[in-house]
Amino acid sequence: MKVHSLEKIYLALCAVLIVLGVIAIGASVFSHGVHLVGPSGSVNAAGIAKQAPFDQLGLKQTGDGQYEMTMLGQMWQWNPIKQQEPLTVPAGSTITFKATSSDVIHGLMVRGTNINAMIIPGQITELTYTFDKPGEYLIVCHEYCGAFHQEMYGKLVVS
Ligand code: CUA
Repeated sequence: MKVHSLEKIYLALCAVLIVLGVIAIGASVFSHGVHLVGPSGSVNAAGIAKQAPFDQLGLKQTGDGQYEMTMLGQMWQWNPIKQQEPLTVPAGSTITFKATSSDVIHGLMVRGTNINAMIIPGQITELTYTFDKPGEYLIVCHEYCGAFHQEMYGKLVVS
């Protein structure tokens, strides 16, 4: 089979681009600490409010500049976040979000951070982020979960 010389150049360019793409993905994964979120435990979706850590929802300080936010995705709110009462932490705080769902799949995203994961019934998802920049961070559900999906939001104020 005769391969035209222009086709050979095109194939070589494709091979180079594939190799560069793989290198770029690998470099960004290692330099930015990108990783897939794995389950960090499971809970029985029935009677979830009686099982640790979801028997005590909310923002708790666990150390100097360390916080834990335990929350439950429920149609249609991030329990116990109230839209009119933002969570507040000082700049430089590290928050570990522990979340699960009591009904359907939700999506937890904190705008402007890499907090972004599906929240699956029965599975505990844990994500940690250090909020160095003061400002307002929107907490949203980014997985369509029914009629009032757009109401699943709250605010975090880093001061
Ligand atoms: Cu929960 Cu959309």
